[in-house]
Amino acid sequence: MKALLCHEYGPPESLRLEETTPPELASATSVRIAVTRVALNFPDLLMLEGKYQYRAPFPFALGMECAGRVIEVGPDVTAVAPGDRVAAHPWVGCLAEEVVAEEDDVFRLPGAMDDDVASGFPIAGGTVWHALVDRGEIAPGETALILGAAGGVGVPAIEVAKAKGARVIAAARGADKLALTRAHGADETVDYAAEDLVARVRELTDGKGADVIYDTVGGDFTDQAMRAINWGGRLLVIGFAAGRIAQVPANRVLLKGASVVGVAYQAFRYRDPEGARANMAALFQAWSDGRIRPHISHRFPLERTAEALRTMEARAAQGKIVIEVA
Ligand SMILES: NC(=O)c1ccc[n+]([C@@H]2O[C@H](COP(=O)([O-])OP(=O)(O)OC[C@H]3O[C@@H](n4cnc5c(N)ncnc54)[C@H](OP(=O)(O)O)[C@@H]3O)[C@@H](O)[C@H]2O)c1
Repeated sequence: MKALLCHEYGPPESLRLEETTPPELASATSVRIAVTRVALNFPDLLMLEGKYQYRAPFPFALGMECAGRVIEVGPDVTAVAPGDRVAAHPWVGCLAEEVVAEEDDVFRLPGAMDDDVASGFPIAGGTVWHALVDRGEIAPGETALILGAAGGVGVPAIEVAKAKGARVIAAARGADKLALTRAHGADETVDYAAEDLVARVRELTDGKGADVIYDTVGGDFTDQAMRAINWGGRLLVIGFAAGRIAQVPANRVLLKGASVVGVAYQAFRYRDPEGARANMAALFQAWSDGRIRPHISHRFPLERTAEALRTMEARAAQGKIVIEVA
């Protein structure tokens, strides 16, 4: 099969499209998938540089999540069967014509969901639901401030927060990204490249601040957002796309009766596979009801994946970038 292999840590251009042996089932609960589409995630960039929490042995195919068709299952697999159209998040190996995933990482698709949308559904959806619902306990009438709101795990956060009855302030850079967040349900927007985030959030919340801060960006954005958190607010620590891990001031946590809450979707999925599967069922239902409408800004063929990774790195993506494998 063809696979886009990483032989050593380096820039996107160091990936090599090669012929290699298809992966074998790894356990009685493994599923082999013929990959059609792969959605990129920011952690792909980190994995490529050896900066991600998980390091795959070389050579490995990049790609955390995909859509495709089941071609083989282990003897103990019950959730899917050969021929099923699925989405999967095996966390690595997807940028190849075939990938093997554990059954708990594979989800049969609702019939009408196309492969482009499906490829980016499991990680974005799973992360957002775990963050806002399980960890953030977002409640109707609360205000959610979504940072990086036009990104891959940003757009569905707007939609899930709205579906849970919250008011959403979407923060992103530039008019185009803000327009996208409005189209996906944001009530208010802040251009944090041009406006004062703290003043604007306070103004939009009658001086109180946001109840839930959904933070995938880190750095200065976290520093600012913590100055606009409401009494009893929750800072959801999800990622550090801006590059710096913020130090949260304990005095603000104390003064606001606030909580700083870690969100680690992959670890959650391993510790609570039934909970993760229930969340995914709720997400597919929300998609079927039209409450989640994933956005794809770019599509690239497999051989142009380096360009796709550079597009994500340059903050030019909106929603997801999809790689066409087959
Ligand atoms: N904890 C978890 O379980 C989990 C799961 C999935 C993803 N994540 C994390 O969530 C974050 C977002 O992932 P994603 O796949 O949604 O990425 P993405 O689509 O690239 O979105 C990241 C957003 O961050 C903003 N940003 C601000 N400064 C940036 C910078 N210097 N470089 C790049 N982006 C910058 C960009 O929006 P603006 O241009 O509008 O500022 C961009 O839209 C990453 O840190 C990732 O590691 C965590």
